[in-house]
Amino acid sequence: MPEAPGADGSGPGADGGAPGADMGGPGAAGRDGVSGRRGSARQRLALVTGSNRGTGRAVRQRLVADGFTVRCLNRSSCADHTDPVVADLADGGAASEAARAVLADAPALDLLVLNAVARGLGRVDELSPEDWDEALAVNLTATVRIIQAALPLLRAAGGHIVLMGSHAGDRPFEGGLAYCATKAALRSVAEVLLLEERPNGVRTTLVNPGAIRNFDDDFSEYKMSVESVASVVSWVVAAPADTVLGEVELRPARLAAPPSVGLDRLQHV
Ligand SMILES: NC(=O)c1ccc[n+]([C@@H]2O[C@H](COP(=O)([O-])OP(=O)(O)OC[C@H]3O[C@@H](n4cnc5c(N)ncnc54)[C@H](OP(=O)(O)O)[C@@H]3O)[C@@H](O)[C@H]2O)c1
Repeated sequence: MPEAPGADGSGPGADGGAPGADMGGPGAAGRDGVSGRRGSARQRLALVTGSNRGTGRAVRQRLVADGFTVRCLNRSSCADHTDPVVADLADGGAASEAARAVLADAPALDLLVLNAVARGLGRVDELSPEDWDEALAVNLTATVRIIQAALPLLRAAGGHIVLMGSHAGDRPFEGGLAYCATKAALRSVAEVLLLEERPNGVRTTLVNPGAIRNFDDDFSEYKMSVESVASVVSWVVAAPADTVLGEVELRPARLAAPPSVGLDRLQHV
């Protein structure tokens, strides 16, 4: 359940970005976007879920470097500050309540990055109901609930929603039912948002990465660093104000030799 809401953007749990680090993204200082509602002096505000570790932490740090004030919506507090609101996003009601609490005093929200994930890996014949339910709740239900809670503030800012998808969304794998199905569903969420919310000045991007080195002790050269993925999120947000990158697919630049290639691979799909 959420703890007490945070007081302001510079308080605990909100990493303040340096004013003036203008990437030219939505809500950027001095840039009047399509909606014409973007402020000229207000510090840009971002909310990131699952930002205590992995890719989410790198996204948070990158956005701070870009000049955003960043608030977090996490189950586990970040190591480098105390999150004023923590919530288990497996509980849809708690997710809505926490999103409202963490944004309670915000006049507008420039960026919402929905990054938290529950993978619920397991083959169909072994997947527990709990793991299925958790993946659905964290990856899909909480995503929608947080968007619903944040939409008025996103509209007020002419803001941007970034959904962290995955290659798993369109490259299903054995043991990935819950992960693949929920990531695939995010494409529909993104598309509906693009249709419904562009008229309200809100942009949406589905970011679909391949393998990421999300653990600190992973040094694989065949995965992307969390910092690189965070850079892509930053670029997406910095797209010219009259454009939106609806979907971005990214993969590691280096590829390990697959076990089967060419025609042989057709026997393995
Ligand atoms: N890693 C990859 O190779 C890869 C590839 C493609 C796409 N992606 C996508 O990129 C995003 C980040 O992935 P990642 O690998 O960096 O993530 P990760 O390291 O596995 O971290 C997952 C994050 O989600 C949070 N989370 C999980 N369950 C939660 C819950 N019930 N309530 C609140 N927060 C919860 C975790 O918090 P706790 O610390 O409390 O557990 C953590 O902050 C995800 O959307 C993922 O699908 C990752």
